[in-house]
Amino acid sequence: MGQATALLFQDVAVYDPPKGHTDVAALARCPVSFVCVPTPTLSNGRCDLSFVYAAVSQVAPILSDKQVLVIRSTVPPGTVRQLEESFPNTHFASNPEFLRAHRMAEDALRPSRVVIGADTVYSRQMLLKTYHSRLGRRVSYVVTDSVTAEFIKYAANCFLATKVTYAQELRKATRRIGAHYEDVVRAVGLDPRIGPGDEWFIDGLTDECLPKDLEAFTSLLRSWGTDRRLLETVRQLKDEALPVRAAK
Ligand SMILES: NC(=O)c1ccc[n+]([C@@H]2O[C@H](COP(=O)([O-])OP(=O)(O)OC[C@H]3O[C@@H](n4cnc5c(N)ncnc54)[C@H](O)[C@@H]3O)[C@@H](O)[C@H]2O)c1
Repeated sequence: MGQATALLFQDVAVYDPPKGHTDVAALARCPVSFVCVPTPTLSNGRCDLSFVYAAVSQVAPILSDKQVLVIRSTVPPGTVRQLEESFPNTHFASNPEFLRAHRMAEDALRPSRVVIGADTVYSRQMLLKTYHSRLGRRVSYVVTDSVTAEFIKYAANCFLATKVTYAQELRKATRRIGAHYEDVVRAVGLDPRIGPGDEWFIDGLTDECLPKDLEAFTSLLRSWGTDRRLLETVRQLKDEALPVRAAK
């Protein structure tokens, strides 16, 4: 995802110590820095924020009060607010990424939307200026607060996980009765409320982000005490292979 961000903004400084880019001071000349570190799943299903905190602890101290540190990694709603409390001298924003891993360049340069989650006017204006200078106004911008922006990313990926799982069920059923799956999903996908997309043709949650974000979001719903029955079911189904028996 860091590569995709670099592709979009082109003139970038990279700080990635595990990859040999160790010059954190290079970020001091950047008005905006993007945190694109991993957020894997912990054994309890929650999102592991240790990489985010490590990166922010390294970068925030070298930034001035004119610069913005943007969390682009997928993180639980409230993470930017926590960072704002822990690093009160740093401007933060949330800017989740929605690219498809197998269409990285295409999606990086022509994003379906740009979500800007900022809790201050300054952060919002800086990030909007950065995107307008690169993409103009020809993409859809959703400008909101950081909690909502963080929520949007999980809501999108869990919807996609649900779509993939539903597609699998349809595929099993069509094979059982001898209907043509491709024709079914083409016709279904032509409805603008439903849409086409690769999800109809993916064999399970093979993309590593979908199961990870499904796990983390279900765990968040559990901690919030809100309804999670649909996503719990998707979670249970996600590991099931396609035990398809051809129709007689
Ligand atoms: N890959 C995708 O298609 C995609 C799409 C949308 C969102 N995301 C999200 O983006 C985040 C990153 O995913 P990824 O697939 O790019 O991960 P990745 O593992 O490919 O890359 C992460 C990079 O962060 C570097 N890194 C680790 N610790 C660091 C530190 N302290 N300081 C600086 N750099 C550090 C690593 O060396 C690595 O180069 C995750 O939250 C993921 O959910 C990924």
